Amino acid sequence: MSAPQREEWNSVLGFILAAAGSAVGLGNIWRFPYIVGKNGGGNFVLLYLLIVFLLGLPVMYLELAAGRKTKRGPVGAIKALAPGSFWKFLGYLAVITGIAILSYYGVVAGWTIYYLFHSIFFGFESGNTSALFNKFTSNGLLQISLLFIFIGITTSVVFFGIKGGIEKISKVLMPLLLILMLGLIIYCFTLPNASKGLEYYFMPRFSEMNTNTFIFALGQAFFSLSLGMGAMMTYGSYLKKSEKLLNAGFVVIIFDTAIAIMAGLIIFPVIGGAPEKASAGLVFVVITDLFTKIPGGQLLAIFFFLLLSIAALTSTISLLEVAASYLIDEHKISRKKATVSIGFITFLVGIPSALSQGATSFFTKFIKIGDKHLSFLDSFDFAFGNISLALGALLLVLFVIFKWKFQNAKIEIFRNQEDKLWLSYILKPLVLFAVPAAICIVLGFIIFTGKTLS
Ligand code: PFF
Repeated sequence: MSAPQREEWNSVLGFILAAAGSAVGLGNIWRFPYIVGKNGGGNFVLLYLLIVFLLGLPVMYLELAAGRKTKRGPVGAIKALAPGSFWKFLGYLAVITGIAILSYYGVVAGWTIYYLFHSIFFGFESGNTSALFNKFTSNGLLQISLLFIFIGITTSVVFFGIKGGIEKISKVLMPLLLILMLGLIIYCFTLPNASKGLEYYFMPRFSEMNTNTFIFALGQAFFSLSLGMGAMMTYGSYLKKSEKLLNAGFVVIIFDTAIAIMAGLIIFPVIGGAPEKASAGLVFVVITDLFTKIPGGQLLAIFFFLLLSIAALTSTISLLEVAASYLIDEHKISRKKATVSIGFITFLVGIPSALSQGATSFFTKFIKIGDKHLSFLDSFDFAFGNISLALGALLLVLFVIFKWKFQNAKIEIFRNQEDKLWLSYILKPLVLFAVPAAICIVLGFIIFTGKTLS
């Protein structure tokens, strides 16, 4: 099969920064610390590390290899590796999942911009952050406008392509993100209750661990590493044949995991102990309130929300690129038209999510599970951010086992690094047994208990 001419990353560093940008996102900075806080502290961190390296890394390699081998995103890759087979539905699932995740992720990403501006111009008032958050999220027009703005910024980056858009901006934003993080960590370590917070973060608490813990850890790992919907496949498709995929994938994983753990080094010293409310609102309600109480809080808030906005943007870029590259590759639509169309469709799909945080009661109480209501945004997060990613990863692994064959994937993964082929003896059983078994257990558990991953 001759690989068609296609844009490529300028350098492996460009790829690493873009892929790490995709992986590092809201999932790392607000979801990871609060899941750790709720699920056993240090024990969870350890379990998470095991899952990332034993289950996440193999899936990452398979995605990158399928992308680079075929020089295509998920739909084209599957079509090229298994022409005419029913497996191509896996590619379409990836594209749909990308649009769906972007539609609600864009809403929360929009919040980060609003909070950034709020912290610059008004600051926050102690005791009032919960009311502020509720008032803000129930303003439908504002929510829709922020979604529009965030998707608009994302579209304008993807519009300029791989080298000129995604790689260029990642090379600026990712180092900035690292500097911001390090600065915030150093400052937060000097806060009066930092050591109490860190103790809570890392102290193993076995009593908080149960079957859910494993499920949370696995769901968080796939979401955080951007696996299961072809984002890494698409980014891998722009990687030069001469680059070392094995090394590059490993660095991306280390980058993402380090940032997740580092986020806790900011959040927990600010909290200074166990969070009163370990919920998703932790960042927007609890942390903002705490910012009002600590020295230098307003400046801290500005840098913190800048950090969140950057992390969110480099992730939304990759979500949009998956669907845009599908139109470009498979339907021969120009990049500019493809990005604007996908951006617009995603914006429309995102409107119900934007209206589901208090603006309309229909979307706010969209589904009833037991005695709990799930909003439209939460339902989408559950269906696409959890189930669909796990399912996508499972199907990809099954595709490799039964159709593409591990032997062929292995050649692509170890290309230019044949001296490391011995590692395939570790990788193979993980791909053939550990990954499918773990995902089946998790999916089975969710289906039978109706429990969500977050
Ligand atoms: N990895 C991103 C985060 O942790 O916030 C979210 C994400 C981006 C998931 C891209 C999936 C994806 F394809």
